[in-house]
Amino acid sequence: MIERPELNFEPDTAAKAAALDDFATYINPQKVRVLKAAGLDIIEAQRDGVWVWDLDGRRFLDCFTSAGSFNVGRRNPRIVKAAHAAIDELDNGNFLLCSRQKAELAKKLAEISPAGLTCTTFGTGGGEAVDFALKLARGATGRPKIISSVNGYHGHTGFALSAAGRESFRRPFEPLMPRFEAVPFGDVAAMEACVDAETAAVILEPVQGEGGIVVPPSDYLRGVRAACDRVGALLILDEIQTGMGRTGKWFASEHFGVVPDIMTIAKSLGGSLVPISATIYTEDLREFLIPNPFIHLSTFGGSDLACAIALEVIAYIEETGLIEHAALMGQRLVAGLRVIADAHPDVIAEVRSLGLMTGLKYTEDGLGPRMSYQLARHGVLAIYSGNEPSVMRLMPPLIITEGEVDFLLEAIDAAVNDLVAGVGFDVAAPSERTKRRPPRPASVSAS
Ligand SMILES: Cc1ncc(COP(=O)(O)O)c(C=O)c1O
Repeated sequence: MIERPELNFEPDTAAKAAALDDFATYINPQKVRVLKAAGLDIIEAQRDGVWVWDLDGRRFLDCFTSAGSFNVGRRNPRIVKAAHAAIDELDNGNFLLCSRQKAELAKKLAEISPAGLTCTTFGTGGGEAVDFALKLARGATGRPKIISSVNGYHGHTGFALSAAGRESFRRPFEPLMPRFEAVPFGDVAAMEACVDAETAAVILEPVQGEGGIVVPPSDYLRGVRAACDRVGALLILDEIQTGMGRTGKWFASEHFGVVPDIMTIAKSLGGSLVPISATIYTEDLREFLIPNPFIHLSTFGGSDLACAIALEVIAYIEETGLIEHAALMGQRLVAGLRVIADAHPDVIAEVRSLGLMTGLKYTEDGLGPRMSYQLARHGVLAIYSGNEPSVMRLMPPLIITEGEVDFLLEAIDAAVNDLVAGVGFDVAAPSERTKRRPPRPASVSAS
């Protein structure tokens, strides 16, 4: 589908060292230390399709993709071209005015979203979209209680953080929003026991991302939907990681035959170039916003520039059949991962997957960072799950080709073999696979 690009900049290890030093001094030294220990002290320079180059010249297949932000690939030429055109004509726009780009994108989102989700409020990032979803749920129902899931992840802003399923993220900031409760993910009975007449909404990821690529039982979301319907509570599905084709459908809820009342999307909507998020909901719920349309505002939420780019992202996904392609590449990846897992039951306990939302569950927590390290040596950028270090997320851009899936599988196999053999803990000596190609005369500055 795409040609494997060549290195197009002059590697610069001194500039890389300086960037890491400045990052440590002016941002956070511990972040630099942690990333270095996992072989992830990478300074991204050239970005191209599924590939990213470290400033020192090493090439990686990006399987982290900022947790699902680069579905159309990094600097996809068609999206870059649309961005250039947009920037020639537009800017962020005036958030208090109506906008042609916002209107067009909201209309398109109504077309691709599950039936009945026809109204949109834009934001800049995922946390903001979740915050608004929860505000809308409380505002529209007049009820206080919100139920989320243990190990769930919805971002670090106010309402979203209150719904975080990991205590260590919440504790230092308590007291957070009142009346938030979390129940185990995948357990309908636990949800039924918690949902009551005071519940405004249940918020879930259809597949937990940071929780370790947890695909729930096939009837789970239907059970939750029924529990909500029994008491008039709303169902919010956070598709910020799972949406935009990641799982082989536009939205993961389609796999489970469930339509939420509110859906949040972000990340890949911006085509890897601009921040934009959307909270999409039913016309019934929009009634709450009619008396005061200024009750929720965001200066840069759904900027004209970002909306123009997001429209091109959606057109690209539709016109290239990217979602069907993602489903096929997911099957190829999973088949190969199962072979590797069968050969290494001591290292890999389970392969988890829905489309190209894929995870490897290791036999122990400590293997997450060690495998990140080994994979980096073999030319793959992959990071273990935030709330579940024993699970490696493999979420490459959906444009990945068969050949690139095979490269990835070979790299994973080699990384597991090196881990088992206890070799390779030498950052200064990258393996043959990751050695950079001979630089071409430097024509394009990458960073
Ligand atoms: C499911 C989910 N919801 C919300 C967020 C928060 O998004 P953002 O970091 O853009 O605020 C994330 C980010 O990874 C996410 O994966």
